[in-house]
Amino acid sequence: MNICYDESFWEEFEILMFDRNRMSETETDVINIIKLLNIKKDSELLDVCCGFGRYSNFLAENKINVTGIDITKSYIDRAIKERTNSNNPNFIQDDILKLDIRNKYDFAINMFTSFGLLESEDDEITALNNVYNSLKSGGKYLIDIQGKELLCRDFEKYIWFESGDTKVFLEYEILESFTLLKSRWLYYKDNTMHERTFNTRIYSALELAAMVYGIGFKTVEIYGDLEGNEYNMNAKRLIVVGTK
Ligand SMILES: C[S@@+](CC[C@H](N)C(=O)[O-])C[C@H]1O[C@@H](n2cnc3c(N)ncnc32)[C@H](O)[C@@H]1O
Repeated sequence: MNICYDESFWEEFEILMFDRNRMSETETDVINIIKLLNIKKDSELLDVCCGFGRYSNFLAENKINVTGIDITKSYIDRAIKERTNSNNPNFIQDDILKLDIRNKYDFAINMFTSFGLLESEDDEITALNNVYNSLKSGGKYLIDIQGKELLCRDFEKYIWFESGDTKVFLEYEILESFTLLKSRWLYYKDNTMHERTFNTRIYSALELAAMVYGIGFKTVEIYGDLEGNEYNMNAKRLIVVGTK
């Protein structure tokens, strides 16, 4: 089963994806996103694949009207439980492929490599189209992934570490002419081994930019981090921003 539709994957592997470091970066990321996109108070923002709402919540605290959408029910339940204002963010539990909203949002964001997870490239284009349609004219969509260039720069086939009482083993392989990343994740905790193998699609800066242009976005900018630095050998992430 594709990980998108495997609720137990997101529950079981949350511990690997959202460690303390990652969580502690969220507030700074939000400050940088607001600056990079020049988001004003009372703007309408869609948080695509919002998870349990870590970005949505900080954005709402900055007086931005946020809607978060995510397919994983337990994440959305947690997001609703943890929000401090019951009106903002608004959370929707649904597949991004089913998003059908027109000309509503000033901004959309897709954070932490949630682009490339869908079953096929066609689905990825459908999702991109859905977000495009949900934006107002002039609206901006920010996508944050580990670009293919950075994946190759930093590639390690095997990664092994211990974090507290958790032993983690990660194995990676590049497949299909550098279009897919095969990941095998294992961790051992409380006498139980957890393991999953899954493929995700990988994009270079120009491949993702071309896809975003192809949907109809008028301009596309490429950055190497949320502060707006250049995408080069020192980049931290691949950030692509399309303007409708
Ligand atoms: C790596 S997590 C990132 C979550 C969030 N953006 C963050 O940074 O905390 C990827 C998220 O994508 C969601 N997701 C995967 N497939 C989806 C789909 N088809 N529609 C909506 N959400 C999806 C998962 O449930 C998960 O919460």
